[in-house]
Amino acid sequence: MSARKIIIDTDPGQDDAVAILLALASPEEIDVLGITAVAGNVPLNLTSKNARIVCELAGKHDVKVYEGCDRPMGRPLVTAEHVHGKTGLDGPTLPDPVMPVQDQHGVDYIIETLRAHEAGTVTLCPLGPLTNIGTAFTKAPDIIEKVQEIVLMGGAYFEVGNITPAAEFNIYVDPQAADIVFKSGVPIVVMPLDVTHKALVTKPRNDAFRALNTDVGIAVAQMTDFFERFDKEKYGSEGAPLHDPCVTAYLIKPELFSGRHINVEIETQSELTMGMTVADWWGVTGRDANALFVGDVDADGFFSLLKERLARL
Ligand code: BDR
Ligand code: CA
Repeated sequence: MSARKIIIDTDPGQDDAVAILLALASPEEIDVLGITAVAGNVPLNLTSKNARIVCELAGKHDVKVYEGCDRPMGRPLVTAEHVHGKTGLDGPTLPDPVMPVQDQHGVDYIIETLRAHEAGTVTLCPLGPLTNIGTAFTKAPDIIEKVQEIVLMGGAYFEVGNITPAAEFNIYVDPQAADIVFKSGVPIVVMPLDVTHKALVTKPRNDAFRALNTDVGIAVAQMTDFFERFDKEKYGSEGAPLHDPCVTAYLIKPELFSGRHINVEIETQSELTMGMTVADWWGVTGRDANALFVGDVDADGFFSLLKERLARL
């Protein structure tokens, strides 16, 4: 089978970084057409810089990185330095990137790339707020049929919220964009907190990354050392949840994950529950399924895949 063509849309973020590294380490399964940065965990100038830092850490200087939207479609930007640190990639000391950012706007890149492909042949992998994708779908609805699948990290149901009591960060930051995506009719796979909170970097798992004794292995371990304090304090969990790598791991080994095809709708009106992913897990609404909502992961299998692939870089 040929490698699946993807566009990674991202706001790095330590966990975004690991997701990108996993994709770049897996050319047999994943063909990264380009990376679009979006404002999210930190402002756009930093997410764009961090995306390039990560490509260079992987030794992939030829990956094209584009800057997309610097704010959500209809609300002020909310960032998460309290989780990811001032740079968004706190932990390791990594050199500033030398690779340039592309001139084209990220949204125009998404539109142009999809238009250049046959229907149903490009997968979108959003790892941050859905602003770039929502904007692209609004500006150029003709591209929607070109998308094979959207595999995204966002939302929560049983785990409720992490940025508000009701909402997960990526969906909360741009609920309007999320609503456009979930109503688009494109097949969607959702990696919500319900599954990502099961992909925890325990100490032995992080020691295994460090023991790779490569620039990548050590940087990933240092990112996790920084990133884990937040969830350990908040949830009393064993380590950092690797939210975004669930997306790229799914592209390589979908059998590691399980969930239900259900209806998922986004709250865009109530300030109290803004950005909530209302997931009809129990099938009580009769509304049509629009997403595979993932609930479980074989965590040992996930971490052994990560370790094996990161060792290649
Ligand atoms: C999501 O928000 C960000 O903090 C992470 O990078 C992840 O994409 C988890 O809620
Ligand atoms: Ca992210």
